[in-house]
Order: sequence, then structure tokens, then C-alpha cells
Amino acid sequence: MGHILIENLNKEFVEKRRQKRDNGNTPESGQTVTVLENLNLEFEAGEMVCILGPSGCGKSTLLRIIAGFDQPTSGRVLQDGKELSSPSPDNIFVYQHNGLLPWMTVWQNVELGIRHTADPGEKEETIQEYINMVELEGFEDHYPHQLSGGMQRRAELARALVINPEMLIMDEPFSGLDFLTHMKMREEVVNMHLYLGKTILLVTHNIDDALIMGDRVVILSGRPAQVNLNRKLEFPHPRDPKTAPELQELREEIFFMLGVSYAV
Ligand SMILES: Nc1ncnc2c1ncn2[C@@H]1O[C@H](COP(=O)(O)OP(=O)(O)OP(=O)(O)O)[C@@H](O)[C@H]1O
Ligand SMILES: [Mg+2]
Repeated sequence: MGHILIENLNKEFVEKRRQKRDNGNTPESGQTVTVLENLNLEFEAGEMVCILGPSGCGKSTLLRIIAGFDQPTSGRVLQDGKELSSPSPDNIFVYQHNGLLPWMTVWQNVELGIRHTADPGEKEETIQEYINMVELEGFEDHYPHQLSGGMQRRAELARALVINPEMLIMDEPFSGLDFLTHMKMREEVVNMHLYLGKTILLVTHNIDDALIMGDRVVILSGRPAQVNLNRKLEFPHPRDPKTAPELQELREEIFFMLGVSYAV
């Protein structure tokens, strides 16, 4: 489960600009912006796909369409042969910006994911296990506004991971985390993926995240987003691009592709 086929996907937005006229009217003029143009991609079931591309190229738009939150202008996305057109409870989306429910505590937010689990004792244990995993022990009864940005991201990750979804769609899940937490969460997601083998689509701005985590790395061009690189990464884990010459070479190629002349 979790095979994804993206066929001839196009997405246009009509940007509304207000123009002042001499007569005082302020009509809205529509300018069409093509964000995705004839995008074709295929992800194998169980793959961890890392998607990179310049800011504003359409990564979040692509994820939202795959998640069924937005409709393409034309083209389609198939999951296991079935067209995706509305959000599926089997797929979980981790937002680029905070997606926690503000009126619920950390515990309640995480609990949302497994509310259908029958055994209450087992459920409590699982919630606590994931809260501990993201190091939020002691903050179970805090509301999102009482947490730092990094703590909110960690709570959100716990909520996503506890669900054990068919497909996990993550839009910059590590943004706002401090360096060490970022490293730990990255390792956690890799381990979870190795263990569960679910399809994960992850957008990141961090090239090393993609190289260390991905079974496949996809680089999109600037808007309209087209596929500049689609490479399967068959390197064993744990990976370190600094010591693996092939990964190091690919790292430099990707930096160059994204407009940076030498890798840092
Ligand atoms: N609802 C919308 N209405 C109009 N334009 C939109 C809408 N959503 C996104 N866009 C435009 O589509 C383009 C792509 O946006 P998107 O959020 O997908 O980029 P992104 O690749 O995720 O960028 P970033 O890396 O900064 O998160 C941008 O130019 C944005 O202004
Ligand atoms: Mg985005």
C-alpha cells in the first residue's frame, strides 16, 4: 500500500490584485500563476521520498494535492491505482506551520491520532511512549501556546507518528527545531520508516536530510515546478554523506542544481 502515481499534474492559481482606478472603483484583476506544470512522478509503496526545491516553487502545493486538500487544475494523483481527490483518514499530513489544535493539550492532541484504539490502558501507554520519544514528558497538560516553537513541532510529530498511517506526508517537519532535536527526530523518522516501511513524502530545505533519510530524492525546479532530478538512493543506513563518496558527489550536484556553487 502507498504506491503513488502523479500523472500530468498542473496547478494554476488566479492571483487577485486590487487596482485603483481614477473613478474610485477598485476592481480585482486576475493573473494566472502556473505553479505545477505537467508533473509526472511515481513513488513505490513504502518509499521515503524527500522533495527539495526553491522557496515558492510549489512543494507545499504538490503535497496538499497529494493529501487531497487541494485539487489540481488538470492531471491526477493515484494512490494504489485509485484517484485521490479528498483527504483520506489513512494518510496523515504534518503541516509546514503549526497544525496542533490550540484548544487541546499536548496529551489530547496526540490522543486524537489513536482515538479509535480499543484498549484504554494500551492507548495511554502508547500516547505516553510517543510523548516521551519527542521529549515532552512533563508537558502533557500544556496547551500549544504554552510551548516553544520547537516543542510544538515535536508534539506535532508525536501526533503524526502515533497514528501509524498508511502514508505520512510531511511538509518541513523539522523546521523550527534546534540542531540536536532535529538530528534526533531525523533519526527517529528513519528508524520508524525502516521498521514500519510506510510511504513517507517529506519536503525539506535541508539537503542532508534528503540524503540521509531518502529512498528517493526529487529536486523540483523554480516555478512552474518541474522535475530536475529523480534519483533512487540505495545506500544502507545509517548514512553519512561526508564519508560516502557517492553521496558526497550527489550532495554537490544537488547544491549546484539549487544554485549554490559549492557545498557547505
Ligand atoms: N491559495 C493560493 N492562492 C494563490 N497562490 C498560491 C496559493 N497557494 C500557493 N500559491 C502560490 O503558489 C506558489 C507555490 O507555493 P507553495 O506554498 O507551494 O511553495 P513552496 O515550494 O512550498 O515554498 P516554501 O519552500 O517557501 O514553503 C507561490 O508562488 C504561492 O504564492
Ligand atoms: Mg512550502
